[in-house]
Amino acid sequence: TSEGSPASTSTGRTGRRPAGQPGRQDWSSWPHYDGAAAGFRGYWYPVTWSSHITGKPLPFTICGEKITLIRDGGKAYALHNRCPHRGVPLSEGDQQFPGTVSCPYHGWTFDLPTGKLCAVITDGPGCRLTGKVEVKTYAVEERLGMVWVYIPVAGEDPHPIDEQLPEELVSHGFVMGGRIEPRGGNWRFACENGFDEGHAKYLHRTALWRLFKPMPTWNITRIVPRGRWIFRVQDEVHWEAEFPGVGRWSNKRWWKLQPPKETFNLGNTGKADKVDPAIEAQEFPGFASLAMPGVLRIAYPKFIHYEFYVPVDADNHLYVGVMVNFTEGWETLRFYAKYLGAIRWLFHGQFSGQDAWMVDVTDAPPEKLYRPDISLTAWRNLSEEEYAKKLAAAGAPPAPSTGSTGSAGSANAKKG
Ligand code: FES
Repeated sequence: TSEGSPASTSTGRTGRRPAGQPGRQDWSSWPHYDGAAAGFRGYWYPVTWSSHITGKPLPFTICGEKITLIRDGGKAYALHNRCPHRGVPLSEGDQQFPGTVSCPYHGWTFDLPTGKLCAVITDGPGCRLTGKVEVKTYAVEERLGMVWVYIPVAGEDPHPIDEQLPEELVSHGFVMGGRIEPRGGNWRFACENGFDEGHAKYLHRTALWRLFKPMPTWNITRIVPRGRWIFRVQDEVHWEAEFPGVGRWSNKRWWKLQPPKETFNLGNTGKADKVDPAIEAQEFPGFASLAMPGVLRIAYPKFIHYEFYVPVDADNHLYVGVMVNFTEGWETLRFYAKYLGAIRWLFHGQFSGQDAWMVDVTDAPPEKLYRPDISLTAWRNLSEEEYAKKLAAAGAPPAPSTGSTGSAGSANAKKG
């Protein structure tokens, strides 16, 4: 599952590609993944903070679908953000009647739960279109202080959201701090970057976060599957080596104290730090894990950091970074102070900003992978398998094996 063996490239009898070959030209080995430039359908995606959704409709784009979110009677609703009359965004409108939204142009008014046209203000009560025209609605839930929308596979009923959230967020109480930020670049680059083995030790070498939390580095990494997650397990927390004929390179911290390596092997080789019971109960076999539809989990002994990479369209995504602490009572104050005083700036700010920068400038395929990229190919394999299962369960046809780079190409269209 590491580099090589693309369907379209001959690798010879040994299975090894001769040195100097260009590498992977496209993502045709992963047809579903290749086709998911605008995201995988059939999943719940966080869209915005719950507190941002009021009686004034707001526009969003998720998986290429234009959506408007509005709150009524305490409940959030999502409708396709296009009036069927003349195509004006409903998010430009307002509420003339409880439980509805009215288009700003001619006052076509839609029932929020069903999306049905329930009044046409400028044609009077006798309008014959009433009840016969509708806009698409989306399932909406609120979790982690955010509004989530389900983007269905055609004809499919939404899955219960709790089945798609990380288990520990459903089974335990917690407090959290987070950041939602629109970012440039395809969601798959964001996802691959989050789980990318090599970037932690190089891209983030200058992040101040490193002064407090050392980055795990690549050293015969294992990828461990666990249910719908894959875990990255590695054994070193610093990197120092002599490169023959080039020189010495060190990413060691400047002071002597190195944290025990067990800190990063939660549930694996033992725990030097006291681990929070909610985290310990999950028996994570590694520090970093990733699941469909693009959820990264970084498990520290006392808190977990999640990144949800939400597809907006082929060229943009939403970064949703959430730091969760499973304590209650006075301990929550300590966490909030730590989050607002440091983590928000060091991690969700500078550290994460380095990721945002790389995701925006990455341009692949073509690509030439190296050993640590087993993290990328393992993720692509996982998403490919999981999505094939999902389509089969929904009775939808599988993605065609076209061998095309079209979707990846469109992801990079703005750069071309
Ligand atoms: Fe919406 Fe006319 S465009 S009412």
